[in-house]
Amino acid sequence: MSRSPSQPPLSSPSLSSLAAPPLTSGSIQLDDPRLLSPLRWDAVHSELQLIDQLKLPHEEIWHTYGEHLGVAEAIRTMIVRGAPAIGIAAAYGVALGALRGAPLSDVIATLRATRPTAKNLFWALSRMQSAAEQARVDGRPLFEALLQEAQAIHRQDIEMCLRIGEFGAPLLPAGTVLTHCNAGGLATGGYGTAIGVIRSALSQGTMLRVFADETRPYLQGARLTAYEFVRLGVPVTLLTEGMAGFLMARGEIQSVIVGADRIAANGDVANKIGTYTLAVLAQTHGIPMYVAAPRSTLDLDLASGREIPIEERSPDEVLSIGSLRIAPRGASARHPAFDVTPATLVTAIITDVGVARPPYHDSLARLVRG
Ligand code: MRU
Repeated sequence: MSRSPSQPPLSSPSLSSLAAPPLTSGSIQLDDPRLLSPLRWDAVHSELQLIDQLKLPHEEIWHTYGEHLGVAEAIRTMIVRGAPAIGIAAAYGVALGALRGAPLSDVIATLRATRPTAKNLFWALSRMQSAAEQARVDGRPLFEALLQEAQAIHRQDIEMCLRIGEFGAPLLPAGTVLTHCNAGGLATGGYGTAIGVIRSALSQGTMLRVFADETRPYLQGARLTAYEFVRLGVPVTLLTEGMAGFLMARGEIQSVIVGADRIAANGDVANKIGTYTLAVLAQTHGIPMYVAAPRSTLDLDLASGREIPIEERSPDEVLSIGSLRIAPRGASARHPAFDVTPATLVTAIITDVGVARPPYHDSLARLVRG
């Protein structure tokens, strides 16, 4: 494998903070310093705190939420984003709604209406609904039961991501791995799906170099993925999306790994816009294309990706970068926030219960059945 002078060195565990000591699945504390969680529960004031992902990496600002409407707005505006993190935030939002005495059906309806694509949101809200029903049957105080469920969802997400890491790490070949958007700690309960696999592979000694797509228009790759790897002490090289094909053709990328927002029964994957393009490029260049996601992302009730609702966000987010207008007045823009990668382009789907390979209709159903 040749290395051009501009490339950073391959990472080994001894170069990074990953070595000391690596996280493994088992009993995990929500405040473990080796995690990078975008949310924390303030038990003294009964409030949810979210790190503002629109301000990272330049400012680390934590906002405080004492009721569900604020949490819904934080999800909609992407202060908190990433499929599992959205689900966890919504779960805490339901608990806050109960604490304030809001009707549960209104609370859940408000949170459901925030973002349409990530299955994890609907999965978490349905768990919260069931927990509320159970609390009534058991005669338990509603807020106490719902907070406990939200914390269980949070903890289980970290556990699932650690298991995804364990299953996925052996799949990554030594060399350069490209990831898209941010599927790291900030997008989850604190460990990450695609980035979790990279972390676990590094911990196991795989020699890896990391490329991150900048990911227009929100720049989750440039701002958040790069921030996570810098914090981990792992060298990371930023690409604009248009560079991937050229670098693959030059033999400079050995694998691609991404997260997912929703996966249909046939293995079609909805993920951040640009993922489909990478998958086509990866197949053209004979490079494995891995998707890493917990079971909470699977939607086996949907036959194919055609049924996945794709969020269309404001064109203003494309016409500007933050508050800086980049296109002339009069220009218009499209902003589908996600795309669907056909299952035929996906080498394997790495879940917390094992690795699914084509044909996905059978392998995913088998994994979920246990
Ligand atoms: O619009 P976002 O930032 O919420 O989109 C996030 C992604 O597409 C991630 O790749 C996906 O949620 C996987 S998260 C582990």
